[in-house]
Amino acid sequence: MKTLLIQTTKELINYRNSLPNDSIVGLVPTMGALHNGHKSLIEHSRKTDSHTIVSVFVNPTQFGQNEDFSKYPRNIDKDFKLCEESGVAVVFAPSANEMYLKNDEITLRAPKNMGYIYEGFIREGHFDGVLSIVLKLLHLSLPHHAYFGQKDAQQLLIVKRLVQDTFLPTKIIPCPTQRDPDGLAMSSRNIYLSDLQRKEALKIPAGLSRIAKAIKEGETKTSILIELAKIELTNLDVQYLDICDYNLNSITHIQKDSSIALIAAKVGQTRLLDNLWI
Ligand code: PAJ
Repeated sequence: MKTLLIQTTKELINYRNSLPNDSIVGLVPTMGALHNGHKSLIEHSRKTDSHTIVSVFVNPTQFGQNEDFSKYPRNIDKDFKLCEESGVAVVFAPSANEMYLKNDEITLRAPKNMGYIYEGFIREGHFDGVLSIVLKLLHLSLPHHAYFGQKDAQQLLIVKRLVQDTFLPTKIIPCPTQRDPDGLAMSSRNIYLSDLQRKEALKIPAGLSRIAKAIKEGETKTSILIELAKIELTNLDVQYLDICDYNLNSITHIQKDSSIALIAAKVGQTRLLDNLWI
């Protein structure tokens, strides 16, 4: 199957309508600069779905004014090649005008609690933008499955909420975080890091490993787990470090299969996110 490059919503709708009724469609939404983290989502879909659609769109509405929208890495040729090699049916790479038609359009608001703490507190309005684009992509591709990385835990949980609250038929499939051999979670933003900064950044997975180890040894108190992580995080500009439930409420004791340790830290100008699903 030859990979198609589609750049307009109209063409994507036509493509979706042209698929046989028994097709199983998977959507992998991305902002491009694809790495092995994205690739693992694509591979997941390729195993499950007859047709995989990968969207590549640096979504302006999820970036704050002082954020890296203009300098966010873009390389559609390389992204297309990776998709082609992975057996993707369609790469959907629209322009901003194609996705946001009017200047007074309906806007979505992320949930008041889930959407405005942690990432949502630091990047106010970020999840409103994420939800707007994800809803549009879901409507355009009408997928059976949509794949999201556990690396962006808050995003994954809020997107699940979107699908629940608006009764969309798509199943959201969480995919595990992919890491480089040194333990750093893969991210399109890692290319901003110098060698020295990358060393600093490794304190983040080290902190999470401390938490994982202590839990294995029987610790359940989150205040103790957080203190243990901090041992690794010295001199790092930590923006938040907390352990919460799947509604993103802070908790005092962890519960298996329903808690997450979340961390965001700045290394130089680069914000890095990581987490541990407990
Ligand atoms: P982006 O940062 O490009 O990520 C696209 C998807 O890849 C997300 O679901 C993200 O969680 C997943 N991902 C990124 N790094 C990963 C890693 N190391 N391991 C596993 N999965 C990883 O997230 C976005 O784009 C945007 O907010 C988007 C959902 C596309 C909306 O614009």
